[in-house]
Amino acid sequence: MNETEAARPPPQGAAADWTIPQDWAGYLPAEHAMWDRLFRRQTEILGDRAVPAFMTGLDVLRIAKPGIPDFVELSDHLSKRTGWTVKAVPGLVPDEVFFRHLANRTFVAGRFIRKPGQIDYLPEPDVFHDVFGHVPLLADPVFADFMQAYGEGGLRSMEFGALERLARLYWYTVEFGLVRDGAALKLYGAGIVSSHGESIFALDDPSPNRISFDLRRVMRSRYRIDDYQRTYFVIDSFEDLLRQTLETDFAPLYRELEASPDLAPETVLDTDRIIHRGTQTHASAADES
Ligand SMILES: [Fe+2]
Repeated sequence: MNETEAARPPPQGAAADWTIPQDWAGYLPAEHAMWDRLFRRQTEILGDRAVPAFMTGLDVLRIAKPGIPDFVELSDHLSKRTGWTVKAVPGLVPDEVFFRHLANRTFVAGRFIRKPGQIDYLPEPDVFHDVFGHVPLLADPVFADFMQAYGEGGLRSMEFGALERLARLYWYTVEFGLVRDGAALKLYGAGIVSSHGESIFALDDPSPNRISFDLRRVMRSRYRIDDYQRTYFVIDSFEDLLRQTLETDFAPLYRELEASPDLAPETVLDTDRIIHRGTQTHASAADES
């Protein structure tokens, strides 16, 4: 994120806040069928893997029209629960635009859906990742408040040039977070729950580390965008994540972190509260190929 990016104007056809019409009527039958296929595949395996709040929140996606949710109807359901709405954008938006939407309880989502050849991986988030992955938890009052707090924190962090560190908090929670559920671990990160392979890997595979969440530790931890994660951080609860985010004074924390070296994604520290020390066999195989 830099000033040039902040000043980048929206593309032609988008509003000043970068939103565009979803054009639900313009989706092809094959695109709705792709949504249904992905939806079925994920709900079949997530029942005892995802945090109960996610499974409850899936109800907001079950709306009158079949296939890809109509954002107008979806927003109507969601706003009655937590005041959040969902709007379409043409692709990735500048950080400031993204944060401002979150701070105003709007989640911006891609409108396109992946092609059959991309069912397991695509480089840019599509409507399945954005809506199936993110929206159910926006129906949870505590997680909904955390997302707004993150947006507000993001706007403040821009003054400190600390976006990279704040992005790590989002990555290791909103996208790839695990949460305790009694003695078990459950999935809640959108990047995991929208991925068939990672929904299994993140909980069952011996390869990745699973480490108790620590805000400072997470903000020092680099991450991989092109493979399954090498470390997952486990929060105690959404309440605890929200409390830590609201109670942390980020300005001194950013200054403190400037003096702390970044950590490689597979690092385990002596001070970590380790739930599972990963074998990193998946990571080693990926590095050799
Ligand atoms: Fe995402």
